[in-house]
Amino acid sequence: MEKNIPKFDVLPQHIGFIMDGNGRWAKMRGLERSAGHKEGALTFRRIGEYCADVGIKYMTFYASSTENWNRPKSEVLALMKLFKEYLKEGDERIAENDIRQMRLKFIGERDNLPKDLLKLIEKAERESAKYDKVTVNIALNYGGRAEITHAVKEISKKVKSGVLSVDEITEELVNNHIYTAGQPDPDIIVRPSGEFRLSNFMTWQSAYSEFWFSDVLWPDFSEDDVNKILEDYQKRNRRFGGV
Ligand code: FPP
Repeated sequence: MEKNIPKFDVLPQHIGFIMDGNGRWAKMRGLERSAGHKEGALTFRRIGEYCADVGIKYMTFYASSTENWNRPKSEVLALMKLFKEYLKEGDERIAENDIRQMRLKFIGERDNLPKDLLKLIEKAERESAKYDKVTVNIALNYGGRAEITHAVKEISKKVKSGVLSVDEITEELVNNHIYTAGQPDPDIIVRPSGEFRLSNFMTWQSAYSEFWFSDVLWPDFSEDDVNKILEDYQKRNRRFGGV
């Protein structure tokens, strides 16, 4: 809060962050990849707080994909440990979320998550459900295609049971069945670490998103980088297919 917060004329409502480059950050320092994720988790907290202070109402952070399970077991375990540490009761996180009135929401497949992690997730969501100032989505075990498939299944069940007719399937209805139902689409998606792809992130929601790329590795991502994104966003001319 004591930071110098610049003012912007136009603010994105929702920013998506692909937290990439942790492994390379660690390798450059002769450290284990898990050390990069640990530093990346600190960056997630710092950037989340800063965005909230600037006035961003929705953020989505890509923390793990449905494909990340294919990584070495030690790395997957280290990631799970980080998520649990972040969520566990008594953590200063609760105070952080409280000060900024941040609602935490986890998006992604829950079925194959470890039970203890799932419990912590549900608890954090329950406890922060009272906040509506800022929504922080953490995409965990997330895949954009899996999300759309999930929505298709949910809708199909309703059609099969007669709750819905095929003619009632509209874009709006699909939108109401994805994990971010009720939230605005990301206005801008940020990918650091020199890669230029979406990697199955917010496939449905990104139809009209702006993109912002940089070479910075996620653990080094700074408040100044957020300022650059927001300055750049002022100049984007979003037409949504119009003229
Ligand atoms: C991709 O970088 C990053 C991940 C697969 C993990 C991201 C997770 C975090 C930053 C932790 C978030 C923590 C919480 C509590 C939400 P990479 O490992 O693929 O990097 P590389 O491309 O340099 O190898």
